[in-house]
Amino acid sequence: MNLFSKYSGSSDLLAGDLGRLSGSYVPESFPHRETEIDHIVRILSSIMRDSRPSNILIYGKTGTGKTSTTQYVTKMLSEAAGEKVRVCFVNCQVHDSPYSILTTLVNELSEGKDDLIPPMGWPLDRIYGELIARINGKGGYYVLVLDEIDRLLQKNGGDSLYVLLKVIDDSTSSRTSLIGITNDANILDGLEPRIRSRMNQESILFSPYNASDLRDIISFRLKGVVKANVVEESAINLCAALGAQEHGDARKALDLMRISVEIAMREGRKTITDKEIYEARDRFEMDVVKEAIKTLPLQSKIVLLSAVVTQELSSKLMITGEIYENYRNICNELGFMSLTSRRVSDILSELEDFGLLSATTRSMGRYGRTRFIKVMGQLDLFKKHLLEDDNLSMFQGSRIVRQSRFENVFGNKEERNLTDRELENKLSNFADADLQ
Ligand SMILES: Nc1ncnc2c1ncn2[C@@H]1O[C@H](COP(=O)(O)OP(=O)(O)OP(=O)(O)O)[C@@H](O)[C@H]1O
Ligand SMILES: [Mg+2]
Repeated sequence: MNLFSKYSGSSDLLAGDLGRLSGSYVPESFPHRETEIDHIVRILSSIMRDSRPSNILIYGKTGTGKTSTTQYVTKMLSEAAGEKVRVCFVNCQVHDSPYSILTTLVNELSEGKDDLIPPMGWPLDRIYGELIARINGKGGYYVLVLDEIDRLLQKNGGDSLYVLLKVIDDSTSSRTSLIGITNDANILDGLEPRIRSRMNQESILFSPYNASDLRDIISFRLKGVVKANVVEESAINLCAALGAQEHGDARKALDLMRISVEIAMREGRKTITDKEIYEARDRFEMDVVKEAIKTLPLQSKIVLLSAVVTQELSSKLMITGEIYENYRNICNELGFMSLTSRRVSDILSELEDFGLLSATTRSMGRYGRTRFIKVMGQLDLFKKHLLEDDNLSMFQGSRIVRQSRFENVFGNKEERNLTDRELENKLSNFADADLQ
């Protein structure tokens, strides 16, 4: 028997390309985003009437459709306005410095291979000059989309945005607008008012989807991908509920559905039921998180363990100092040398890059900048994977505390009732020695 023949049953399930459920595929419409799309279209439509559109700040949680709706709308704009408009899309997760962003923009505006500029070697002012020359040389309208702009601001501060806003002023023979996209609604808080007000001349919130929105979105995206009646209604509902649990994340919901279909295909099953969705969820979480955790160096595992057990005591945001204290407690308990707090702070940034932690830095007035940290995922799952390391398997955690001196900030542990934002405000009144 041919070893592959059992897999050929896949066509029993599929009516089209499964890749259409993947994150990079931009669908032909967006249920439950009509209002937001209409808002963006109205702003950008001033190009059709020959005036410069306002800058736009689009914000909302992960998987709420910010990137893909912006791609969808700007593509339509290019189709409608033709030569008159150029749209440049830059992802600041990839290009996280003004240098790299300006280089990318210059190269996006290249006519051919010959006028590409090298990724390194040119001084910043020369790249800037080249960008302005190219923009002014052609005239017309430019829409510069800066996706994941929080990344840029975290790494380089407000000045980096200033450079990009300056492009607008210097493009005198043409008209440039910026669209910034961010996960973090508070990202502009610490910036100078003049930068802030210019960046969000218009701001548009993408609110989280609820389970019923996600159900519509999944059903819509499944059309033409799977055959009729292959996916059970209850499986769609479950998938939507799981996505809604994750702050209304359509990406998560669609990924779960795509993995479920793959599982069903591989196993030669005829339908997708709740069982396949649960299997997909387990695989999804296991694969991504487990691999990421398993391959961490020991010291990074200890730092992550400290963050997990600290967060277990109270679900609110943590401060570097707290995680460091508990990190040292764990090192003592297990007999490891502990690293300096500076090094642990670097490790926390690395863990953030892996997506295992999330950190937001806030300006705390005269106390300087403070990092607030959260574990990104299920604490018990993280802990399980961490304790699979033989070096950590003896961990008991008897000495783990949320430091009493940090509790001063919260007063009688009432922090459980505070929102993250309120908590941060309280923390901002707290002595800097404890915050760092
Ligand atoms: N209303 C919708 N209808 C159909 N598909 C949607 C809708 N909203 C989001 N999606 C899909 O969900 C996935 C995630 O969307 P997108 O990448 O735009 O999210 P995002 O808000 O940019 O997230 P992040 O902040 O993580 O970058 C994409 O595959 C997108 O096509
Ligand atoms: Mg995005």
